[in-house]
Amino acid sequence: MLQVENLVAGYGKVQVLQGISLNVPDGQLVTLIGSNGAGKTTTLRALTGMIRPESGRVLLGGKDIAGMPAFAITKFGVAHSPEGRRVFPTLSVADNLELGAYTRLTGQRPKGDVKGDIDKMFDLFSRLGERRNQLAGTLSGGEQQMLAMARALMLQPQVLLLDEPSMGLSPRLVEEVFSIIGRLKKEKVTMLLVEQFAAAALEVADYGYVMENGKLTVHGPADKLKKDAAVRAAYLGAAH
Ligand SMILES: Nc1ncnc2c1ncn2[C@@H]1O[C@H](COP(=O)(O)OP(=O)(O)O)[C@@H](O)[C@H]1O
Ligand SMILES: [Mg+2]
Repeated sequence: MLQVENLVAGYGKVQVLQGISLNVPDGQLVTLIGSNGAGKTTTLRALTGMIRPESGRVLLGGKDIAGMPAFAITKFGVAHSPEGRRVFPTLSVADNLELGAYTRLTGQRPKGDVKGDIDKMFDLFSRLGERRNQLAGTLSGGEQQMLAMARALMLQPQVLLLDEPSMGLSPRLVEEVFSIIGRLKKEKVTMLLVEQFAAAALEVADYGYVMENGKLTVHGPADKLKKDAAVRAAYLGAAH
């Protein structure tokens, strides 16, 4: 269980997150939706230690990891598929996946079967299997998105943070990415999914939070949020 309590974070003097609190229970898929600039990416960055929160707590299995550096947070099993994918372009697909298991290979997390898990990723993301020796920089946007997700999964995460996996993808690939997220949900991978594509996110999620200007304004079970008039008007393109 990931519990965020009164998290305040930003960039230098610019405070973006105004004290947010949210929970991601084990085995659940929670989505964070909101317009461009609301603070969704900043939230994930603060959770993974890419930026240092000013105050608040980030509890993972009851332990406060807020303020720890990113490399330390990774050891607790928080995996991040970042906005813009950030695959290592000059490394092969297989090497990108192996790097996702870095803390397993260095003994900071249980090693398990890294090679077997790479094969599992090639089963889950068949497009990657066909391109295992190709340099990641030569993949299409959709393939890079899948690689970023697969690399994060190689940590065998306690919680997987996904930032805008649908961004810039064709409708067909968006569907493919969401169907994979649905499969991960069935396998009880604990996930926090950030999306601007609110309709698809609420369709697959258990629970949702709406972010506006660095604050969480509405939250509830995803099927209830889908029917909420204000949420529909603002994020689901519904008539008023
Ligand atoms: N590296 C940065 N330095 C300064 N301000 C930033 C930086 N990244 C984002 N911001 C600002 O933080 C706010 C929230 O951005 P972001 O978290 O990226 O929103 P979202 O992911 O919801 O679109 C925006 O006003 C944005 O301009
Ligand atoms: Mg963002």
